[in-house]
Amino acid sequence: MKLISIYLLVLCVVGANELLVVAASGNDGGGGRFVYSGFAGANLTLDGTATVTPAGLLELTNGTLQLKGHAFHPTPLRFGFGSGGGGGGDGVVVRSFSASFVFGILSAYPDMSAHGIVFLVSPTTDFSAALASQYLGLVNVTSNGDARNRIFAVELDTLQQDEFRDINDNHVGVDINGLVSLQSTSAGYYAADINGGGFRNLTLISHEAMRVWVDYDAGDARIDVTLAPLAVAKPVRPLISAAYNLSSVITDTAYVGFSSATGSFNSRHYVLGWSFAVDGGPAPAIDVAKLPKLPREGPKARSKFLEIFLPIASAAVVLAMGILVILLVRRRKRYTELREDWEVEFGPHRFPYKDLHHATQGFESKCLLGVGGFGRVYKGVLPNSNVEIAVKRVSHDSSQGVKEFVAEVVSLGRLQHCNLVRLLGYCRRKGELMLVYEYMSNGSLDKYLHGQDNKPTLSWAQRFQIIKDIASGLLYLHEECDKVVIHRDIKASNVLLDNEMNARLGDFGLARLYDHGEDPQSTHVVGTIGYLAPELGRTSKATPLTDVFAFGTFILEVTCGRRPIYHDSHGTQVMLVDWVLDHWHKQSLVDTVDLKLHGEFDVGEACLVLKLGLLCSHPFINARPDMRRVMQYLKREVALPELMPTSMSFHMLALMQNDGFDSYVQSYPSSNSKGNISTATSSLLEEG
Ligand SMILES: Nc1ncnc2c1ncn2[C@@H]1O[C@H](COP(=O)(O)OP(=O)(O)OP(=O)(O)O)[C@@H](O)[C@H]1O
Ligand SMILES: *[C@@H]1O[C@H](CO)[C@@H](O)[C@H](O)[C@H]1NC(C)=O
Ligand SMILES: *[C@@H]1O[C@H](CO)[C@@H](O)[C@H](O)[C@H]1NC(C)=O
Ligand SMILES: *[C@@H]1O[C@H](CO)[C@@H](O)[C@H](O)[C@H]1NC(C)=O
Ligand SMILES: *[C@@H]1O[C@H](CO)[C@@H](O)[C@H](O)[C@H]1NC(C)=O
Ligand SMILES: *[C@@H]1O[C@H](CO)[C@@H](O)[C@H](O)[C@H]1NC(C)=O
Ligand SMILES: [Mg+2]
Repeated sequence: MKLISIYLLVLCVVGANELLVVAASGNDGGGGRFVYSGFAGANLTLDGTATVTPAGLLELTNGTLQLKGHAFHPTPLRFGFGSGGGGGGDGVVVRSFSASFVFGILSAYPDMSAHGIVFLVSPTTDFSAALASQYLGLVNVTSNGDARNRIFAVELDTLQQDEFRDINDNHVGVDINGLVSLQSTSAGYYAADINGGGFRNLTLISHEAMRVWVDYDAGDARIDVTLAPLAVAKPVRPLISAAYNLSSVITDTAYVGFSSATGSFNSRHYVLGWSFAVDGGPAPAIDVAKLPKLPREGPKARSKFLEIFLPIASAAVVLAMGILVILLVRRRKRYTELREDWEVEFGPHRFPYKDLHHATQGFESKCLLGVGGFGRVYKGVLPNSNVEIAVKRVSHDSSQGVKEFVAEVVSLGRLQHCNLVRLLGYCRRKGELMLVYEYMSNGSLDKYLHGQDNKPTLSWAQRFQIIKDIASGLLYLHEECDKVVIHRDIKASNVLLDNEMNARLGDFGLARLYDHGEDPQSTHVVGTIGYLAPELGRTSKATPLTDVFAFGTFILEVTCGRRPIYHDSHGTQVMLVDWVLDHWHKQSLVDTVDLKLHGEFDVGEACLVLKLGLLCSHPFINARPDMRRVMQYLKREVALPELMPTSMSFHMLALMQNDGFDSYVQSYPSSNSKGNISTATSSLLEEG
């Protein structure tokens, strides 16, 4: 059963082949017509690079440079009319004939190819003397145009050759005996539109199969050449219509075929199908469905693609991805922050680093407000709310104590008083901590007192108000909020002025955060030289009364317009408290008031403040009033007790000599040119 079906199949195949051969060559002898719908099994006369591929394509050139190839129908055809005489005789009248063929040109380059295909009618198939490249395998230098050639040809030329007067690099031409065309036209066709047809350009090297019709009308002595895409039916209007009597060219019997040549480009020229008829009406129809397919991408072209394009493309992709990754990593790194589980409860007080980064324009130096003992302070505007903030960047090593720090920051953030700068929140990064404060548009008080930045001098009324503001802020910290908060760093630069010139105390409570007091022995003195109470030299234990001492120095500074420790005209270091005390002894207290006020001040208020300053900065802890008392004195609700001049000076002297306060001060000399020794805290911190 199986055997029989195989036998039948073989029979069918053999039969089909025989039929095909008959169809291809059977009519030769008689009417001179044939059709090749593909060339599989066809008996063509080939030379040079011409071969029939396994797929049935007639490959005239194979891509190798500077070679030619020819293919001919194996038997010559009879073109002469009537007479049966030998070829080439005069008086022969050539009959009408029609040819059609489908071709395709594949080039390794998108817009360059060489050289083209020629359809020809020739007395011979021997083109061994012809040249490749621009000669298209048709003629050589000497034989070009020679009337003895007896060649009629239609060229599909893809390179412009001035020696042959080519019109461009994409043309169709009718050639007689040589490559200088009788007539030529840029490749294209007249479409059969409703409007009568418009010209459409075609590109011979488009890698698309196209069809050509060559029709010779002996009656009119006219040659028509028509070109069209494979999908388009034969256009009514031919591309070229040349008047020429071929009786003087074509011999009685002649071969029909193709010639093609490569030059310096890797090009392959194919014929997919071909039909021909002499004096039998139009050329037989080629069965388009049976035509072999043009190779999509030639092996050379593909390797070019792989060799050049692919590596470049993949390199580009890798590069792009690399850049993307770097950008993402950098972006992540730029905004990375430290965030731990325990911080969840402080969430509302935590600012994303990205927000702060944007707010301060990436911590630009033009946003820098100032540099203090703990770090830099930047001005910023929060992206969403447009709230103005001041961001203090504090470098903070190790995770030790961070939790307490953050808890403290958050609890300090809960403190609200009109004379305190609000601490809005914080943000953490590796080794760094950011504290976010309300922005105080008028900056810090020290700039007004000590004439930096050309700030105007404050009037006495303003100074007195500032003193009362700070006193009330400090009273709130000491007594009125939930717990006792010791400021520890009261000084002019920590007094900030808001847009209404209200004085507000900043940086409260923070100093404590820097000495995590696990070991009382190792605790460092925190604060600023000149504002430090003498007992801190002994015990390092801050109390509300050490704040009172600093407050006393502060109000003297505001009243006298001098720093707590300043240099007199001889360059000697003078303690402001001593100097004021000295004047008090000499009954010339009023002389200490800031000369920049030009005497415009309330003498009573000034004396009150000066005496209160001395009292607050009393070396005896017990002699200092608490802040509630201070408030009462300032409001004149209670009269200031009279100071005891002799005893006071005695005690002060004794304390300073015996308790080593002098040496303490000298160990942190005022190296700063501005006479500001406020950064002692930072050096103390670094030790820890
Ligand atoms: N909330 C704020 N609004 C406006 N400016 C501020 C604010 N906080 C600080 N500044 C400015 O930044 C400067 C530096 O502040 P910072 O607190 O770091 O240093 P300091 O007060 O001089 O010393 P310390 O480190 O002892 O507090 C201040 O002098 C002030 O001009
Ligand atoms: C092919 O054609 C040539 C020339 O006509 C002829 O000699 C040869 O026998 C043919 N071969 C086949 C297989 O038909
Ligand atoms: C093309 O044909 C020529 C001659 O037949 C041959 O030498 C060459 O190797 C062929 N090239 C390719 C790419 O097949
Ligand atoms: C050119 O071709 C002709 C035949 O077509 C030949 O006789 C002649 O020798 C060739 N000339 C050269 C230079 O090869
Ligand atoms: C066709 O090609 C010719 C020459 O390349 C050009 O001048 C003409 O504009 C083209 N026409 C169209 C319709 O593209
Ligand atoms: C073409 O030439 C031949 C021979 O010279 C002549 O017999 C014929 O009439 C010519 N045809 C036309 C259309 O002129
Ligand atoms: Mg400060």
